[in-house]
Amino acid sequence: MMLRTRAQCLEADRNDPLAEHRDAFVLPPETIYLDGNSLGALPGAVDACLRATVTEQWGQGLIRGWNDHDWIGLPMRLGEKIAPLIGAASDQVIVADSVSVNLYKLLAAALALRPGRSVILSSEDNFPTDLYIAQGLCELLGKERCELLLVDRSRLVNSIGNNTAVVMLTHVDFRSGRLWDMQTITRHVHEAGALMLWDLAHSAGALPLKLDAYGVDLAVGCGYKYLNGGPGAPAFLYVAKTHHSHAAQPLSGWMGHAQPFAFSPSYEPAQGIRGFQTGTPPVLSYRALEAALTLWENVDLAQVREKSVRLSETFIELVEGSETLAEFDLNSPRQASERGSHVAFAHPFGYAIMRALIDRGVIGDFREPDLLRFGFAPLYTRYVDVWDAVEHLRGVMLNREYETSQHQAPKRVT
Ligand SMILES: Cc1ncc(COP(=O)(O)O)c(C=O)c1O
Repeated sequence: MMLRTRAQCLEADRNDPLAEHRDAFVLPPETIYLDGNSLGALPGAVDACLRATVTEQWGQGLIRGWNDHDWIGLPMRLGEKIAPLIGAASDQVIVADSVSVNLYKLLAAALALRPGRSVILSSEDNFPTDLYIAQGLCELLGKERCELLLVDRSRLVNSIGNNTAVVMLTHVDFRSGRLWDMQTITRHVHEAGALMLWDLAHSAGALPLKLDAYGVDLAVGCGYKYLNGGPGAPAFLYVAKTHHSHAAQPLSGWMGHAQPFAFSPSYEPAQGIRGFQTGTPPVLSYRALEAALTLWENVDLAQVREKSVRLSETFIELVEGSETLAEFDLNSPRQASERGSHVAFAHPFGYAIMRALIDRGVIGDFREPDLLRFGFAPLYTRYVDVWDAVEHLRGVMLNREYETSQHQAPKRVT
């Protein structure tokens, strides 16, 4: 049922099976946070865990923490916690580095797994870091061994050819929220003898995923968006078991060595997913992510998806139903089954409007050239937040609050 009044939104919150999870977050009063797709909110458990890690584990334990608190096991331990969120069985996920660095490792591994093929195929609208990393790798390896082919989304499937080594796509588009059909695309890629690498930055924690069931080869994902690990949280990577005996990554640091503390002069990779580590894990960031991941232990991802769809749907309907907001054009698919958990609207004054909205305490973000993005994180976003956010947006437009010069000046981070 569509939510047409604020009272109906409050009623939907009362009946929300995920409502209690909001209490696990520290959210500033008078703020409506609709940017969890960019940086997740702070779980209270992270605050407590970081204090204990600093004062007790580090302060008192000193270097003993690596063994006594199993800091050295954090990359695998956290990987095991993320695995069920992405539909992966044990020993295939590890937390390491950033999404960008992990893309580099996995693209290089994919090219080596498909000798004789040189093309990395992707879509023109993919997230820039994905494209830049591929460009850098091609630059290093040379055209014979690595060539990035970028095509329009609509031409992607038909562009997979005999020379395609790996197809690299972002499952949920960072601008529009548009979803690729993971199962179908992965199947097409395999039929052509290529490998599939998914960027799950906007997917993990936003909707159920089935990497193993769909036979996905490789994936990367983000710790600081829907997983709430904090600004710059470490990322994760997935390598399907079938590739463990052959896949190798190029950043052969000591943490990916079979025996780091043997201090051998020659590199010998650790077996399986452990070999995809590089250097020393930043323990404080890992501990923050570890605490954040405990929030997912009893969460039903089907309920997360159901709420995400209803929140987004309500937002779209309220914006589209308002005459004051008639100039906003939906940039996301209208069909819920084709969207992730954020929604984008285009407006020629998008940047200034978002700045004015943030001044009112409604936090979304802006993407060039004219997109206002609103993310719905089902663990803490309420239906009443959606209602109030749209009311504020109407207020910004009715009062022309975006016209003041302070809202026009671009900040470094949008
Ligand atoms: C799809 C996607 N990939 C990658 C990244 C960022 O990668 P990194 O964590 O290396 O900065 C983002 C950041 O928003 C993203 O949206």
